Amino acid sequence: MSITLHKASHSYEDRGDVPLPVNRPRRLRRSETIRRLVAEHDVNAGDLIEPLFVVPGSGVRQEIRSMPGIFQQTVDRVVEDAKAAAALGIPAVLLFGLPPSKDETGSGLADPDGIVQRAIEALKRSIPELLVIADLCACEYTSHGHCGILRADGEIDNDRTLELLARGALSYARCGVDIVAPSDMMDGRVRVIRHQLDAEGFTDTAILSYAVKYASAWYGPFREAAGSAPAVGDRRTHQMDAPNAREALKEALADVEEGADMVMVKPALSYLDVLWRVRQAVNVPVAVYNVSGEYAMIKAAAASGWLDEPRAVDEMLVGFKRAGADCIVTYFARSCAARWKAAAARAR
Ligand code: PBG
Ligand code: ZN
Repeated sequence: MSITLHKASHSYEDRGDVPLPVNRPRRLRRSETIRRLVAEHDVNAGDLIEPLFVVPGSGVRQEIRSMPGIFQQTVDRVVEDAKAAAALGIPAVLLFGLPPSKDETGSGLADPDGIVQRAIEALKRSIPELLVIADLCACEYTSHGHCGILRADGEIDNDRTLELLARGALSYARCGVDIVAPSDMMDGRVRVIRHQLDAEGFTDTAILSYAVKYASAWYGPFREAAGSAPAVGDRRTHQMDAPNAREALKEALADVEEGADMVMVKPALSYLDVLWRVRQAVNVPVAVYNVSGEYAMIKAAAASGWLDEPRAVDEMLVGFKRAGADCIVTYFARSCAARWKAAAARAR
């Protein structure tokens, strides 16, 4: 059998007929069942990490204007959300704190009675099996909003900031945190944090390093969520420059060498090539951070009726898996896990 070509559309000397296609990839796309059988990747609740924003007080649940469906909450409410996440099969939460006061040196970061410290304790007490990851950076604690302690000339003092980060990590560990996640991009922080934790006996506290973190416009809504915008200047002297990918491998390899148990690439959508390259370069789990601006963009488009949110989100998340992510920090975690659970129940 062959396909007969219409002669008028064909100007070659040999007007012989063309054989039927040999390859027909469409055979494996004919039904939902067969598509599921041959799927190369999948994404499920067990891959997700849910970020949570903690504020002082009790009974507060304040929606973040630029992140519909995401809230700043007091510890009591955070525990409720974390319980819901755990019940949906989400293995981990990532904590950010909005402290009641800030100072020049970000001392609140290592306050044993700090907001994140309180949240870690409450979470480990009420949901011991849920992994608690705490973001470790000075910018939510400094009055100037920079990710480190400033020198007299206004530049961030890398090595003094390392001491603060080490103290912060230790205070989290003392509260029972499972994983500390330095997001500051100071040089050499993983080694200092590892040494500090080990010196105090916290050899089982893991480090998830934001090893590859770009200076990015996609953090816009987070600055409102965490109240952490720099008063003047930007983060370009420590966060990475968008055109660079090779440099990401240098950062990731250095952090693994210094003792990072896992590394993160952030943001996600504009850096999938970097995620892929980091995945090839290291032998530790790689996380990706689907950041606030990526969330806000989809939410805004969906609210205007311009995107089908569930389909867009699922396609994006499996794309992160395909690009090499072992786990995904995403503000969509709970809504996805709930939707997938409901769909699985309907399928049964
Ligand atoms: C703190 C930190 C930021 C994010 C995570 N940790 C902001 C920043 O570096 O400016 C961004 C998260 C997001 O946008 O969702 N250093
Ligand atoms: Zn910071």
